[in-house]
Amino acid sequence: MRLFEIVAGLLTTVLVAFAFASPRTAVEPPGQVPVKEFSVEARRFEFVPNRLEVNQGDHVKVTIHSADGTHGFEIKQFGIKEKAKRGGEPVTVEFDATRPGTFEIKCSEYCGRGHSHMTGTLVVNAATEGARR
Ligand code: CUA
Repeated sequence: MRLFEIVAGLLTTVLVAFAFASPRTAVEPPGQVPVKEFSVEARRFEFVPNRLEVNQGDHVKVTIHSADGTHGFEIKQFGIKEKAKRGGEPVTVEFDATRPGTFEIKCSEYCGRGHSHMTGTLVVNAATEGARR
């Protein structure tokens, strides 16, 4: 019986220590939020790169410039819709990757026959307790 009590006591201690060692808070102090920056080229009929991967909680900054005509850059779920005008002048969109998942990036300006195929992917990896960087 003694042994059982000791083991149970140890287990409780370990569990309590673990709970304190890995706080559930996913919020970092101001100024400590990781910023992920991307530079994307929009051209008939693709985004280069066409896959952006970030972690939940990141602040995301995407600079887009067109290599030919006018294109759009839209991520509906994050309220992003911006035009990359011909001439290559860059535009920057910023948002917080608040929710995890895979989201479609779309060209939101008609740019020719391949317009509807001009898509990309935003991957937001779910924040995992204690393992977030
Ligand atoms: Cu690019 Cu529509």
